[in-house]
Amino acid sequence: MQKFKNLSKETRIKLIILAVLIFLIGPGLYNKLKVVNYALKSDKIINPVRIALVTDLHSCKYGDNQQELIDAIDAQNPDVILLGGDIFDEKLGNENTIAFLDGIYDRYPIYYVTGNHEFWGGVDMYYEDMAILETYNITRLEGDLVHLDINGNNITLVGVDDYDGYLVDSDIILENQFVDAYLSLDADSYNIILSHRPELFDTYEAQDYDLALCGHAHGGQWRIPGILNGLYAPNQGLFPPYAGGLYEEDGTTMIVSRGLARESTLVPRLYNRPELVIIDIT
Ligand SMILES: [Fe+2]
Repeated sequence: MQKFKNLSKETRIKLIILAVLIFLIGPGLYNKLKVVNYALKSDKIINPVRIALVTDLHSCKYGDNQQELIDAIDAQNPDVILLGGDIFDEKLGNENTIAFLDGIYDRYPIYYVTGNHEFWGGVDMYYEDMAILETYNITRLEGDLVHLDINGNNITLVGVDDYDGYLVDSDIILENQFVDAYLSLDADSYNIILSHRPELFDTYEAQDYDLALCGHAHGGQWRIPGILNGLYAPNQGLFPPYAGGLYEEDGTTMIVSRGLARESTLVPRLYNRPELVIIDIT
């Protein structure tokens, strides 16, 4: 203490500011995986349904052979797993993504849509990623509509590509995917759209989806609990309106996963733990 008093006033102030910053920021850097649960109600659902939403893995590592993430999913025992894009990463390589798919592919129905990062690595990497999905027999949705037979419910799942798809494949025209799927929807079915992009909420709402499931925003990277739900998200900018969480408008619910990106980003997450999203619909 005497040593501290012997320091100049300027140095003492700097040390105090540093200590306060460490005290405030330190706990916010804790980035262990957490499970985030949402409970929804619908007249269209007669028996409970549990969905696991996995987004923005970016080939990050969750324990040996991805066991931490796989165990978290198994503990929730979902009826279906939806992979909402950016599961691969053009910079980190595919080792962790492959380990994850290897750990789940034969035990759950799994559906996948692309994120922007599946396209950002160029044509060769894109086809390599899609070949991996085929190896694991995972269904990719590209404007397709599938009827999910879950616990006797009438559920329709639509999945659309990320709108950066045109970068590698001129056949990927997102607008056409939306229109084709929309024209085939049945209003009596519980209609879910799986799409990487939360900034398209107006489209999901205009097309009367009951539920839209998205990622991409990474929770806005930095959060201040109770004050700020995300500082910045790609394609939404500063103070993003759809950084993560549940949003509702005119009968459409959108759930935005804060995703699983961890070591793939230069700027660390702050008060924004990576998340596995579990949705119960009753
Ligand atoms: Fe993304």
